[in-house]
Amino acid sequence: MAKPGDKDHDVGQTGHPGELVGVGEDVWMDVIHKMDEVYSDLLQYEVALEEKNAKLEESQQFILSVLTAMSDILVVCGRDGAIEDVNPALEVITGKSAESLRGSAIYDLFVGDDARDQARQLLTVFGEREVHDCELQLRAHDGSAVPVSFNCTPRFNAVGKSMGMVVTGRPVGELRKAYQALRQAHDDLKRTQQQLLHSEKMASLGRLVAGVAHELNNPISFILGNVHALRRYANRLETYLGAVHAGQSPKQLAEQRARLRIDRILDDLDPLIEGTIEGAERTRQIVDGLKRFSAIDRDEQQQFDLAEVVERAVRWVSQAARKDFKVRLDIPAPLMMIGSAGQMQQVMMNLVQNAWDATSTLGQPTLQISAEVDVASAQVCLRFEDNGPGIDPGNLAHVFDPFFTTKPVGQGTGLGLAISYGIIERHGGRLSAANASAGGAVFTACLPLAPLTPAC
Ligand SMILES: Nc1ncnc2c1ncn2[C@@H]1O[C@H](COP(=O)(O)OP(=O)(O)OP(=O)(O)O)[C@@H](O)[C@H]1O
Ligand SMILES: [Mg+2]
Repeated sequence: MAKPGDKDHDVGQTGHPGELVGVGEDVWMDVIHKMDEVYSDLLQYEVALEEKNAKLEESQQFILSVLTAMSDILVVCGRDGAIEDVNPALEVITGKSAESLRGSAIYDLFVGDDARDQARQLLTVFGEREVHDCELQLRAHDGSAVPVSFNCTPRFNAVGKSMGMVVTGRPVGELRKAYQALRQAHDDLKRTQQQLLHSEKMASLGRLVAGVAHELNNPISFILGNVHALRRYANRLETYLGAVHAGQSPKQLAEQRARLRIDRILDDLDPLIEGTIEGAERTRQIVDGLKRFSAIDRDEQQQFDLAEVVERAVRWVSQAARKDFKVRLDIPAPLMMIGSAGQMQQVMMNLVQNAWDATSTLGQPTLQISAEVDVASAQVCLRFEDNGPGIDPGNLAHVFDPFFTTKPVGQGTGLGLAISYGIIERHGGRLSAANASAGGAVFTACLPLAPLTPAC
């Protein structure tokens, strides 16, 4: 390559005006070649620059579209709290343009001195650490306060120097409204569930009252009959005593005694009084049982005889059934366990009632209740097997679901078994359903028995 100072390149005058003296053609060619190279480099740089520019524009457009699409607000501010940039969401809420907001203090976006002080503290005092979900009131374009949940993150430059904060915020008004609506719906649901539970309780109470009424009817009519007889006897005894006090002759008195059948009255008095006492005693027992049933939630830890509870449940349901419902009870007594006798009574009544409901249209509705005691594990399994149609195999997995019922609308809440399942579980037991090979349904309730108190 030719260089200045080379002999051939000495500059001098040639014979032609405008030509440099002593410059050879090859030098010119060299220069032209160089210029070509530079020009082509320039062209390449221009193309690369244009490509980079296009990419830059594309990414700027992308960032802009993201910022515009954001429903959360975004504010970038310096260490002194001066706003450097905002996104359109903030413009919409405040009603101010990004230009007018730039340079102003971020604290002025908030309503009230407290919120402004709090923001100042968060952004300057704690300016180097993150802030999460801090709720402050933002001043809206109409002057109202919009609750916004803010998050702040410090912003650093390339060498790690703190440059200010990036603040994002989510208006929580809508969120809160949605939450309140959800809460309201949840409360309504809970209330409805309570009402349904209550109506299930009322339904089983209705069945119980029917059974109890029937059972009370017996001793009460017995007592009433006896008391009426006693009153008649009292009248006759009064008449006879009147004759005695009137000093009638022994013959007259003997006549009176025979006519009023005083001897028979005297013979009858004892059994009548005995019978009345027995009837009253029976009534007391029934009332006792009823009291135990109504103590549903009061005493969950009493010791009671499960056999007696089952027997009472059978009696009450079958008496209310008012048809020949044959219940074969084959369980050993006593079966002492600990828990709530009232709740257990509700379970047993549900199981017996379901069996009755499933068999009531049959000629001979039958329920067999048996018990298997396992002394080693101190538990008893009660088995309720009826001669009804059984449970559809597809329904077996759902019979314990709340509100599952195959009964016509208005005739079953579908809560009986769900409640029973919960009660048995709370007593440390298990309730299961199956179909017997003969066809009827089988419900098995396994429950822990009370530990035996050692004899002393
Ligand atoms: N012994 C049974 N034989 C056949 N199906 C039964 C038997 N017991 C329960 N079921 C089925 O299980 C369903 C749920 O029973 P559950 O006791 O929970 O509610 P329900 O009896 O329908 O209503 P409620 O108890 O409020 O009267 C019944 O509708 C029935 O389909
Ligand atoms: Mg039921």
